[in-house]
Amino acid sequence: MRQEDLDIMYMRRCLQLAANGLGRVRPNPLVGCVVVKEGAVLSEGYHQEYGHNHAERNALLRLPAEAAAGATLYVNLEPCSHFGKTPPCADLIVERGIRRVVCCNDDPNPLVAGRGFAKLEAAGIEVVRHVLEAEGRELNRRFFTFMEQQRPYVILKWAQSADGFMAPSGGEVCCNNIAAYKGEATGGHGGQKYWLSTPGQNMLNHRWRTEEAAILVGSQTYLDDRPQLTARHWHGSQPQPIVLDRRHRLTDVPAHWLHLDSPDIPSLLTTLYEKKIQSLIVEGGRKVLDAFLASGLYDEVRILQSPQVLGSGLEAPVVHTPPALRYAQGSARNATGIPLPNLGEELRRVLIIEP
Ligand SMILES: NC(=O)c1ccc[n+]([C@@H]2O[C@H](COP(=O)([O-])OP(=O)(O)OC[C@H]3O[C@@H](n4cnc5c(N)ncnc54)[C@H](OP(=O)(O)O)[C@@H]3O)[C@@H](O)[C@H]2O)c1
Repeated sequence: MRQEDLDIMYMRRCLQLAANGLGRVRPNPLVGCVVVKEGAVLSEGYHQEYGHNHAERNALLRLPAEAAAGATLYVNLEPCSHFGKTPPCADLIVERGIRRVVCCNDDPNPLVAGRGFAKLEAAGIEVVRHVLEAEGRELNRRFFTFMEQQRPYVILKWAQSADGFMAPSGGEVCCNNIAAYKGEATGGHGGQKYWLSTPGQNMLNHRWRTEEAAILVGSQTYLDDRPQLTARHWHGSQPQPIVLDRRHRLTDVPAHWLHLDSPDIPSLLTTLYEKKIQSLIVEGGRKVLDAFLASGLYDEVRILQSPQVLGSGLEAPVVHTPPALRYAQGSARNATGIPLPNLGEELRRVLIIEP
């Protein structure tokens, strides 16, 4: 195998390892590391928990001090060169006698940017950069959006009926229709209980919640649905609940929620950036989703397509996306990893989860 192909292969492994940290390391990036010597993988590691060791440290500290001498170290983000919550990884790489470092993305963090590589090169280590760069940016899209655009990465998500409604207008029809879906039901537009997504889609939705830093609804959804905004059907970290309430209509918002009255979406996102919220999943309702769509300040749309037919109700938002950017997933079960191709910075994806 050519060296270039080997580099790509091991970098793919780094990205695979890095992805295990999703939901656990924010606001840090997802990072994986592989140490290879004489054609054999000596060690692997990834950044597992915010405040804990970085990927390089996890991979290198598993080995006896001399073992990595002369090895190649693969890592998908420029090694850090500063003392943060842990000591600089670049120093450890130099100490362990690594001969070559292959990297995917430069670190946009002003504390690192270029200094990690400079430290390695000053120690005589060969540095190869930008291997699978687009894939690395895709994996760390939340981190790069936050660092470069000074706003959270925004995912708009809603469930819609087969005929395009996101809530029924009255309770009776929907309750008869949706009685098949047992378990937790939310409130409803007409004050009745309803449940639009299938149990599998609901579990997927709760997994998504564990992957983002915060979750947001509008005041009307709060009043109608009394949502908990927690991840109850998937193991992982809980997102920060947020409700938007400019007229201060809500009097019983739990103390741990962010109860905000930002006048518009740009100022909301600035507030969240200042609070170091790296990513946000917006779960409706229609008015709030429309405000995000109109602002253009969002990165992904995820639609849970229900098999239910409501006949009437609150129409779901319409997203005008070229067919090539719409991804229909056969079932919620197969869609959990959402392995979508990189579409470039300016293009937004619409993921449709079919029942
Ligand atoms: N199918 C689904 O996935 C889904 C998900 C969520 C909700 N729903 C349903 O959607 C219904 C509620 O939707 P909705 O459209 O009536 O209300 P909504 O979007 O939940 O809330 C609208 C309210 O949010 C406040 N708000 C704050 N900042 C805003 C901004 N920048 N832009 C727009 N609104 C802002 C406004 O009140 P202030 O001016 O006082 O701030 C506005 O009246 C519920 O019945 C719920 O069941 C369905």
